Amino acid sequence: MLRASTMNTENCDELVRILGQLRKGVDRDTVLRLARTEGYMFLLYDDGNVPVGVAGYRFLETIARGFHCHLHDLCVDQAARGRGIGRAIIEHLIEQTTQRGGRWLFLDGIDSALPFYQACDFVRHQATLLKYPCSPAMRSDSPTAP
Ligand SMILES: CC(C)(COP(=O)(O)OP(=O)(O)OC[C@H]1O[C@@H](n2cnc3c(N)ncnc32)[C@H](O)[C@@H]1OP(=O)(O)O)[C@@H](O)C(=O)NCCC(=O)NCCS
Repeated sequence: MLRASTMNTENCDELVRILGQLRKGVDRDTVLRLARTEGYMFLLYDDGNVPVGVAGYRFLETIARGFHCHLHDLCVDQAARGRGIGRAIIEHLIEQTTQRGGRWLFLDGIDSALPFYQACDFVRHQATLLKYPCSPAMRSDSPTAP
């Protein structure tokens, strides 16, 4: 059975190991700092005590979207993919959001994951996401740029 645990200093390394499959180079200090100071929530999911997935998200309220959840990171361990764990994590986050009175679960999807999100009944948002490279380091388009 899938179980969610809030990240702490003890399970953090496992969380970083799985998250690193999506976010190359992510480290322990970064996730601990984001959780401590930026309202970033990280959950580590295990299946029978075996760590299998990670979600990083925030609850926030904006005038345009109302109270909602924004899913920043979702990754299922390579060894555990294709077993319904990604869907179960999404269902858990939907439940968490609904319980808090949230209206939406938003995310920035990558192309390779679109079939998964479509299977989970997500729909495309009409607004176009734009970005401006404020830092000179971001000015050459890099695949690792956020
Ligand atoms: C995307 C990801 C989270 C899916 O997790 P998963 O546990 O393998 O997915 P599930 O087994 O829960 O699949 C749920 C449904 O999506 C479908 N699906 C999953 N991946 C798919 C793919 N690549 N193409 C088509 N359908 C797919 C499954 O067939 C299943 O459909 P069904 O329930 O109707 O049979 C996982 O592959 C992953 O972590 N990928 C790397 C990181 C990543 O891309 N994260 C998302 C960033 S936006």
